[in-house]
Amino acid sequence: MKLHSRHLLGLEGMSKDELTLILDTAVSFREILDRPIKKVPPLQGKTVVNLFFESSTRTRISFELAERRLSADVVSFTAAASSVSKGETLKDTARNIEAMKIDMVVVRHAAPGSAHFLSKVVDANVINAGDGGHEHPTQGLLDMYTLREKFGALEGLRVCIVGDITHSRVARSNIYGLLTMGAEVSVCGPETLIPRELGKFGVQVYHHLEEVIPKVDALNVLRVQLERQKSGLFPSMREYHRFFGVTKEKVSRAPKPITIMHPGPINRDVELSADLADSEHSVILQQVTNGVAIRMAVLYLLGTTN
Ligand code: CP
Repeated sequence: MKLHSRHLLGLEGMSKDELTLILDTAVSFREILDRPIKKVPPLQGKTVVNLFFESSTRTRISFELAERRLSADVVSFTAAASSVSKGETLKDTARNIEAMKIDMVVVRHAAPGSAHFLSKVVDANVINAGDGGHEHPTQGLLDMYTLREKFGALEGLRVCIVGDITHSRVARSNIYGLLTMGAEVSVCGPETLIPRELGKFGVQVYHHLEEVIPKVDALNVLRVQLERQKSGLFPSMREYHRFFGVTKEKVSRAPKPITIMHPGPINRDVELSADLADSEHSVILQQVTNGVAIRMAVLYLLGTTN
């Protein structure tokens, strides 16, 4: 079994078998991360370029570690320190880098569809590390991996994504992936930050945390994008925290403990209380560790079989 596409552009349209293949492959790479020597040879002789046009801490370091642990040669690029600051386009940047004979490109860019566009203009395998508000497929995969690790299976698992669903690439990738894997997916947030058509996809929509908390196994809490307040989509941080902030006090009303996830970076005491983020119910740092294994699995599957 191999992935159908040479690229990983999003989780939309990927089959249950493909998602399971990535999650299962990541299990063996996760085990390697606990060894004293964490390096294995599958991508020896391959060159991977990380094209980051937007800021990133977790995704960028995680991809770089994954690439190096698979023995690839790695080149990392940031827009601010490149000729993009002189006006060079994404297409020209990518084609010039490809002319240096590279094999794979990992791209983060503010424009939705940028990874798809890149896959049409370069021969290398393209991996989407987040394209605007569209998708963040490796985040969706690492979230599913973490849930499967914790609960044993995704089928029937009840997961609620909390926050700004409309502008979130993390929410989209989670929704596509979790629904395909048979999870029960809900979302909770202000009406202004939830797309109306979500119900059609089989996603339950809530506007009150108190209503959804007793019904779920896990809450995946999204970062409040501070710029949304300026655009009037919610009145203030204090107001947001009061109604949609996930706190110890709110989750303590659930009949059983709820697993707390967050893709990072966290606005502590805005969307998630600091004590809950650091509590035994939080798997936030496990998500980060598992992200390296997921990225190793994706790089391995695309770099050796596609
Ligand atoms: N989760 C995530 O994408 O974090 P970064 O923006 O730090 O990469």
